[in-house]
Amino acid sequence: MNTDCRVLVVGGAGYIGGLVVDLLQSANYDVTVYDGLLYESRYLKPCNFVHGDIRDTNKLTTEAHKHDYVIFLAGLVGDPACQVNVKATEDINFHAVRDFVARFSHTKKLIFISTCSVYGAQDDTLDETSPTSPLSAYASTKLAAEQCVEDFGGTIFRLGTVYGPGDSYSRIRLDLVVNLLTARAIKHKKIAIFGGSQWRPIISAYDVAEYILEACERDLPGIFVLSKENVLLSELGQRVAQCIEGTELVYNSIPFQDFRNYKVDNSKSLRDFRYRATRTVEHEVFRLESLIKQGRIKNLEETIYSNGAYLKAHPEALEYKHSVLV
Ligand SMILES: NC(=O)c1ccc[n+]([C@@H]2O[C@H](COP(=O)([O-])OP(=O)(O)OC[C@H]3O[C@@H](n4cnc5c(N)ncnc54)[C@H](O)[C@@H]3O)[C@@H](O)[C@H]2O)c1
Repeated sequence: MNTDCRVLVVGGAGYIGGLVVDLLQSANYDVTVYDGLLYESRYLKPCNFVHGDIRDTNKLTTEAHKHDYVIFLAGLVGDPACQVNVKATEDINFHAVRDFVARFSHTKKLIFISTCSVYGAQDDTLDETSPTSPLSAYASTKLAAEQCVEDFGGTIFRLGTVYGPGDSYSRIRLDLVVNLLTARAIKHKKIAIFGGSQWRPIISAYDVAEYILEACERDLPGIFVLSKENVLLSELGQRVAQCIEGTELVYNSIPFQDFRNYKVDNSKSLRDFRYRATRTVEHEVFRLESLIKQGRIKNLEETIYSNGAYLKAHPEALEYKHSVLV
């Protein structure tokens, strides 16, 4: 049905990108992934692929202009990853997006993936019109990039924290709260909740990919908050512990180092999109548990499953090489 429609998934080799590519391919889009393979040494999914850095504006723009839609997921993701090299974070998460958008044709569609981290720490329930309050290089660079995409007339998704195992090719992320708690419950039979009084909106990676697919199929510019539910971190710990038999829950009064605290109101995406998020925390915890218990993830502590830990150990991965092929 959509074979005439060409989609470039920038950052398509990543955790969310893997599911986006799968759904687009199932819907018969002609999909190409553009990715610098920051964490990977290979990309094996049967899909057109361009190995490129988004800081190479000429290369990215040339590829983008061969496509009808661009879905922009690439970047340094999460506060710890962005703290490793703030200059690289600014270049990748903001300058590269700004320079790309300035040259991208206005006749084409742009879908940009941002984060609810732009809200920082606020007690109210927040929506697309609420003030932002970024607390980190990650949040401030994503917010600055959003502004460029909004001026362009693109669709922007502000995601809550994502959970679930992702697709079957891409690197799983175990640095995201639900996945991290699941891995700890299985490995240590114990979950320690630090602080726990913070609110966080959450949504599965699968549901995010479904929203992105719908954004390709319909014309819905503007900012949309995406979340399935708002959870208190302490309650989230209890829910994960209930899924993994024999897990002890320990509350620790040491304040959590991540000060983010926000609830979101997703009425706008419920009003304008037909899709409804369906994957519960419990569903995705059981899927992840099954993968881990089958021994498919040999060492849960490997830095590769955590963006921040990996980049701290391999800061050279952030160096910009003009030509990525040797
Ligand atoms: N996972 C979450 O909980 C979450 C929450 C909110 C927002 N988001 C947003 O969703 C998007 C995707 O996140 P993810 O969880 O899939 O992250 P990820 O780290 O798994 O994927 C990021 C991808 O971008 C690529 N990339 C990084 N720098 C690049 C560069 N300079 N040039 C080319 N490619 C580069 C990486 O190789 C990787 O494939 C990001 O924009 C992120 O801000 C994610």
